[in-house]
Amino acid sequence: MPTEAAALLSRAIHFKGSAIPVVVRFSNFAGLPSVADNDAMSNPRGMSIKFLLPDGGDTDIVAHSYNGFPVATPEDFVKFLRALGSPDPAEIQRFLHTHPAAQAFAAAPNLAPHSYARESYFGVNAFRFTSEAGVSHYGRYRIEPVAGTAYYTAAQAAGNPPDYLAQEFQHRLKLEPARFRLMVQIARPGDSTTDGTVIWPDDRVMVHAGTFTLNRIAPDGAARQRSMLFTPLSLVGGISPSADPMLVARNRAYRVSYARRHAPGAEGGDK
Ligand code: HEM
Repeated sequence: MPTEAAALLSRAIHFKGSAIPVVVRFSNFAGLPSVADNDAMSNPRGMSIKFLLPDGGDTDIVAHSYNGFPVATPEDFVKFLRALGSPDPAEIQRFLHTHPAAQAFAAAPNLAPHSYARESYFGVNAFRFTSEAGVSHYGRYRIEPVAGTAYYTAAQAAGNPPDYLAQEFQHRLKLEPARFRLMVQIARPGDSTTDGTVIWPDDRVMVHAGTFTLNRIAPDGAARQRSMLFTPLSLVGGISPSADPMLVARNRAYRVSYARRHAPGAEGGDK
């Protein structure tokens, strides 16, 4: 449900009027389907949102639970992944030493949330929000759990079952909806709008743009999961991309990933 402040920030169709249905996918690191909820590699968690618009179209937000990203450019992301995958452990050490944002990402505490509904999510890359009056602001999405964040200690987390987040969420929704606030952090002049590794200070204005109320799990499980594609550049008028080069690269990569998932011969793909 959008707020009045949302309508002042952007003329986007889902930023004004009445409630709009959404479909949300929560995920573990990078959306890898086989990573267990209790795996040390499962952070950051993902939250992808698809707004089903009244005109029959849709628009997405793809966010994760780390405020920032290890690299600023697609070229560096390729280098980072190659270093991570290298059999020589010195490779990743070299990369981390020369890339402070990647160092900070690697050193971040590996927090296990009590629930997908007790975690915050960050859109990382900036967008340009334009109002009906033609006024534009750069902003970054932030999605805050209304119930607040809560994390297990490392010792507690070690006892969690592999699918503890999925189980918890199913149980939670039988009792009450999960609610999140959609916030847009507004850039001040001088804040980088092209580098997701540069975190804007917390004193920046936060516009409360709306509230998500999640009340049921989609019934058609795995088949529906495979058929869903969320991309950061699935946009509508009133919200446009910043010049952050990651946005275009992300958009392409997500589409390639989707196409491979549906390629003939892919596991569960089209025949
Ligand atoms: C150039 C940089 C990036 C590349 C190449 C990349 C690549 C990918 C790919 C290939 C997928 C799988 C998509 C699918 O199969 O549907 C994915 C998923 C995901 N990525 Fe990225 N990513 C990048 C940056 C980011 C950033 C900055 C964030 C932070 C918000 C992020 C968050 C996510 C999330 C939450 C998912 C799961 C999406 C879903 O539920 O469908 N990624 N990424």
